[in-house]
Amino acid sequence: MNNKVIALVGGSGQLGRLVADEILALPDTRLRLLVRPGSRDKVADLEARGVQIVEGALSAGAEQSLAAFCAGATTVISAVQGGPDVIIDAQVALLRAARDAGVRRFIPSDFSLDLFRVAKGQIVSSDARRAFAGIAEAAAGDVEVVHVLNGQFLDRRVLFGFIRVIDPATRTAYVWGDGEVPMDFTTYADTARYTAAAAVDDNPIGGVLGVAGDTLTFHELVRAYEKASGKTLRIERLGSMEDLDARIAGLYGADPANLHAYLPLMYYRAQLNGTGRIDPIRNDRYPAITPTTVEQYVTGEGL
Ligand SMILES: NC(=O)c1ccc[n+]([C@@H]2O[C@H](COP(=O)([O-])OP(=O)(O)OC[C@H]3O[C@@H](n4cnc5c(N)ncnc54)[C@H](OP(=O)(O)O)[C@@H]3O)[C@@H](O)[C@H]2O)c1
Repeated sequence: MNNKVIALVGGSGQLGRLVADEILALPDTRLRLLVRPGSRDKVADLEARGVQIVEGALSAGAEQSLAAFCAGATTVISAVQGGPDVIIDAQVALLRAARDAGVRRFIPSDFSLDLFRVAKGQIVSSDARRAFAGIAEAAAGDVEVVHVLNGQFLDRRVLFGFIRVIDPATRTAYVWGDGEVPMDFTTYADTARYTAAAAVDDNPIGGVLGVAGDTLTFHELVRAYEKASGKTLRIERLGSMEDLDARIAGLYGADPANLHAYLPLMYYRAQLNGTGRIDPIRNDRYPAITPTTVEQYVTGEGL
């Protein structure tokens, strides 16, 4: 009795793919994907497993063309990535289409540290997500908008890559300030599990679902890595928090379009100064999920 339909945008992406897998593992649930025509090959295996594919794209003003995608869905999930045109304008069109179709819940593409506590300008990509959230408050109607917040992805490509708190290749850990503030980390897979659980939750969740696989200060993170890997890290202190502000301002001022130069530092700053900390962490709403800790991740990945 497949009585819930979950409509997912971004199923061809890194997080969205894992959300799709989790939804498929749920009983009494069907999955529908919105996929850009050129990306259909990426989800061919999902299609072969019976997932309904709707070809299309999110864009500003696309409410009409998104109506069929949203029709009959219990929850719409967005796991898209992009600039303000996608995160604000296109997601607003999707939310309006969901509302008009009588969808019960909408999970936008947040999946970050607590972007609601981070001041404007501190993380440019969080500004767009907060702008979406503000519009959504007025536009959602009866749709429950749930922001899933998971801290930083506990992943080779993020903690050990994009943000590069730890570089396993050079056995170096990088910090600004004293590194004494707790920071939240969650794997992609666990974030996908919580998102899928929220998508089929029969009860109201409230506007924010904060989750975390582990919460550690920089120094605890280093110790967890060292314990799990058996390797010793060299700690490189890059400067004070004021130095970090100046570094970000300098990079941003030099080339605002070069997001990759300063965005990782913006995220790391909000963790190091605690403004992005997730509180409350609500893992216990879904006790069947036991999220991965840093030690477990490092051991499992052989980092
Ligand atoms: N907390 C963290 O540490 C952290 C780190 C990384 C990412 N994130 C967040 O996680 C979320 C997902 O990121 P990701 O890394 O999984 O992204 P990703 O791999 O780049 O995937 C993005 C997905 O969105 C789809 N998409 C983009 N624009 C679209 C549009 N206009 N219409 C329809 N589909 C569109 C892409 O489709 P195509 O396949 O057609 O391109 C793809 O499926 C984002 O909110 C991101 O900010 C958080």
